[in-house]
Amino acid sequence: MKVMLITGTSRGIGRYLAEYYASNNFLVIGCSRSASTLTHKNYQHLIEDISNEKSILNIFSIIRKQYKNLDVLINNAGINPAILSAALLPYSLIKMYMK
Ligand SMILES: NC(=O)c1ccc[n+]([C@@H]2O[C@H](COP(=O)([O-])OP(=O)(O)OC[C@H]3O[C@@H](n4cnc5c(N)ncnc54)[C@H](OP(=O)(O)O)[C@@H]3O)[C@@H](O)[C@H]2O)c1
Repeated sequence: MKVMLITGTSRGIGRYLAEYYASNNFLVIGCSRSASTLTHKNYQHLIEDISNEKSILNIFSIIRKQYKNLDVLINNAGINPAILSAALLPYSLIKMYMK
């Protein structure tokens, strides 16, 4: 069975992908800052904030211990500044992209 990590699975696109792949013979590890209501034998949810480096290390440490390897990563949680209005972006983020 392939092991897949999907970030941002508590709702939206990530939640749909987690349900889809868990139902199609993948072992899916999902994460978000809040809990998930998704219950499936092939799904494990981790409450982690991927903007925090320690959380990311923790996720990969759990995957290494429990599953030994990772076959697929879908990095879904995040924002795409290209599709957001600049008015909605924090100044710190705009400065980062201007560098
Ligand atoms: N929907 C669209 O039309 C569209 C179009 C183009 C691109 N996208 C991209 O597709 C992705 C998903 O979109 P969506 O509409 O499904 O978004 P969404 O409904 O807002 O869901 C985002 C998911 O990511 C989690 N998340 C957010 N920040 C996180 C963090 N720091 N650490 C861990 N989890 C985090 C959220 O859970 P918590 O809040 O509990 O952490 C939630 O489960 C985004 O990257 C978006 O930019 C979406």
